[in-house]
Amino acid sequence: SLPAPYKDDVRIAVIGGTGLKELPGFTQVGSLDILTPWGKPSSPIAILRHKCSTTGKDVFIAFLSRHGLHHEIAPHEVPSRANIAALRWIGVRTIVAFSAVGSLKEEIKPRDFVVPDQVIDRTKGIRPFTFFEGGAVVHVGFADPFDEGVAKVVRACGHSLEGDGVVLHDRGLLVCMEGPQFSTRAESNLYRSWGGSVINMSCLPESKLAREAEIAYQMICMSTDYDCWHAAEEDVTVEIVMENMKANAVNARRFLSAVLDTLSIDAHADLVNARHLKGSMKFGISTPVA
Ligand code: ADE
Repeated sequence: SLPAPYKDDVRIAVIGGTGLKELPGFTQVGSLDILTPWGKPSSPIAILRHKCSTTGKDVFIAFLSRHGLHHEIAPHEVPSRANIAALRWIGVRTIVAFSAVGSLKEEIKPRDFVVPDQVIDRTKGIRPFTFFEGGAVVHVGFADPFDEGVAKVVRACGHSLEGDGVVLHDRGLLVCMEGPQFSTRAESNLYRSWGGSVINMSCLPESKLAREAEIAYQMICMSTDYDCWHAAEEDVTVEIVMENMKANAVNARRFLSAVLDTLSIDAHADLVNARHLKGSMKFGISTPVA
């Protein structure tokens, strides 16, 4: 069980992506090394204390580095089942996941933020993508892969920072590809023809597993490049991704801090406890119960 003082109190988690390994301004009060039946998570889970600016109450937030503390875990190697299982085990019911993405649309410029509302799965089926194997037949609904309640909070927070240089696109179709190689130009153009807004390698199976765990999940994307479809812009490289991520890190942290501060107010208690998802999995199980 969790050590005091945050036992039973951690409902919100951040999964940090490339370029977002920590959250300055939040006090780390613990670090949990958890071993799950699916192995160890990408990193120890840091427990951060945050004083809600509205209520003055302390709120505890879990922070997990998706690619490891030293960015040593490639997107196809992320132990997503262990990550989601460990977060769920410590009590997390809401995940705000962060990701660097390539832009598939002219109007989504590098350093803009996008709150995606749909996903197309272009992973190759080689990442373990379900908790239910060898005994239970489970088909969970995934028509809307993100949590609209959390998305509303995220959008409001993003727009409140517009004066500080945050540019936010309220919706978007995210294409999640396998990687680790970037797309070919033909693939990039194909995704554009499908109406894709942004592309990454990290949303799946993470969001599917969160759904199976009855955890509310919303991704915040930060555009770092124009992938390779844009005639007038350089093709994506790691250097371009890192440069834009670094240049906009202050805005990314400010944005996330605002989201966490808002989710911490009592009025959002039902949302962050994911009461709307409680018991939802039982409708996904088709194995007859004796
Ligand atoms: N992450 C950041 N930029 C990307 C791109 N162009 N394709 C896939 N993942 C990305």
